Amino acid sequence: METFDAIQKRASVREYKTDPVDKALLEKLVDAARRAPTARAVEPWEFVVVENRATLKKIGEIAQSGSFIKDAACCIAVFCSDTKYYLEDGSAATENILLAARDSGLGACWVAGDKKPYTGEISKLLGAKPDLKLVSLISLGWPKKDVKQLKNRKLDEVIHWERF
Ligand SMILES: Cc1cc2nc3c(=O)[nH]c(=O)nc-3n(C[C@H](O)[C@H](O)[C@H](O)COP(=O)(O)O)c2cc1C
Repeated sequence: METFDAIQKRASVREYKTDPVDKALLEKLVDAARRAPTARAVEPWEFVVVENRATLKKIGEIAQSGSFIKDAACCIAVFCSDTKYYLEDGSAATENILLAARDSGLGACWVAGDKKPYTGEISKLLGAKPDLKLVSLISLGWPKKDVKQLKNRKLDEVIHWERF
């Protein structure tokens, strides 16, 4: 799939088949993440790849807006050290994973980390050092249904040439 294809066809996927995802593919996703732009070239990120069913179930229980994580093949937790631009850096890395997942035929959903009351509990569960910020939880698995992107706002509504 070409980059533009992956961008145009990416959509949040919250229902997955039970089939596992190859470790090599999960490594490729994290490799895509670490290649994201990063302010001041700090590369503050750390990625925890969770496949253990009991841990996935616990994450789904703790992170209520991501309850479907319990049935995902995997969840990648994106952490960043507490730098000035940790949220931008962690978000750029998260988007790289979403696009690389779509490119590989995997379904994925960005589940909120930063700003949620459950970040501390997830960090503790995954053994993260206290100075690490949880930016996102990414659920992953082979999609149960066709993946279709639905966007409300059209290009001509959001584009402004030179000025508003
Ligand atoms: C910062 C952020 C946090 C999000 N958190 C959640 C979440 O907790 N649970 C969830 O199901 N989706 C979450 N999403 C996914 C959005 O709901 C989704 O991107 C939006 O509905 C647009 O749909 P699309 O991804 O299919 O284009 C989040 C997305 C972003 C960017």
